[in-house]
Amino acid sequence: MKILKDISLKKYNTFGINAHAKYFSEINSVENLREALRLKQYPTKFIISGGSNMLITGPIDALVLHINIKGISIIEENDNTVILKVSAGENWHELVMWTIKRNYGGLENMSLIPGNAGTAPIQNIGAYGVELKDNFMSCEAMNINTQEIETFTKSDCKFGYRDSFFKNEGKGKYVITNITLNLTTKNHKLNTSYGAIEQELEKGKITNPTLQDISNAVITIRQSKLPDPKLLGNSGSFFKNPVISKEEFGIFSEAHPEAPFYKISEEAYKIPAGWLIEQCGYKGKRYGDAGVHKNQALVLVNYNNATGKEILELANRIISDVKDKFRIAITPEVNIIK
Ligand code: EPU
Repeated sequence: MKILKDISLKKYNTFGINAHAKYFSEINSVENLREALRLKQYPTKFIISGGSNMLITGPIDALVLHINIKGISIIEENDNTVILKVSAGENWHELVMWTIKRNYGGLENMSLIPGNAGTAPIQNIGAYGVELKDNFMSCEAMNINTQEIETFTKSDCKFGYRDSFFKNEGKGKYVITNITLNLTTKNHKLNTSYGAIEQELEKGKITNPTLQDISNAVITIRQSKLPDPKLLGNSGSFFKNPVISKEEFGIFSEAHPEAPFYKISEEAYKIPAGWLIEQCGYKGKRYGDAGVHKNQALVLVNYNNATGKEILELANRIISDVKDKFRIAITPEVNIIK
């Protein structure tokens, strides 16, 4: 096992933050991971995978393990469904493209989400009306303390909106090594109800969309709103969309009848944080190298050399202004690494 010293993590996090790791090692197999976790001379380990949902705010005084375990295998295929096991280090979007090429349905709405397969369950990634949990069966994860592999069923994962067991009780205790997904091979359950997808299909005069058509529509929509991390550092939505109670919603909508919202139950309403942030005047603003994206106020960007601390300061100003203007608390969706 090769341990490197003083490595810049700029290319390992999609925000492109130039923080340094004291020690760094590539992990290519489960055995490799076990061996690394057992290295007593490096008491603190830090796991990084796609690096697409984190803001690193300082140097990492630990052995950073970059999870790069590869492999996609078909576990079972029958008339209507296929079960796939995907290793943690597989790039998410490449996996989606792999499934579409084979006409396996379920992941198409989640095209172009940055990150890797192994981190997808941590925040239950989702887009355009579909979440990972909709096709998820189970995952395997290594317990960091015992180095044993444990299996988590879908219910063990306690998925919620951008949330799971791994963000709560399981935080910092496991490294996901693979995920098992259940996809359709025919009679796909297409989800085109999300407004922008319908409009995009209409533009192309597509009335009977294939998986590829939906994926193309999603890619077009995402590219028009969300910056490509290869060109402009970012971590997708920086904040979660806040969920407020019926009473709070009553007061809010009376004051702001023009605001978009989603009713998620009789008791709860979700307000797009992007709208709240835009109303506070932040959309497209730049402070040094830290900024708010011009097409989607939910996304904070690093123009090149912003530090994690600068991005965090901007995030905190936004949180405080949204609170003052709307009395609504927004919280980060990305993991802030202190
Ligand atoms: N809006 C604004 N100004 C903005 C951004 C949005 O007014 O700057 C308004 C839009 O006009 C629209 C509403 O907010 O009425 C919702 O916007 P959008 O459809 O772009 O979705 P979102 O709620 O901002 C969520 C996810 C995205 C996901 C999209 C599509 C969260 C935190 N974000 O964004 O996920 O791609 O829906 O499903 O739930 C991510 O998690 O990294 C991510 C990009």
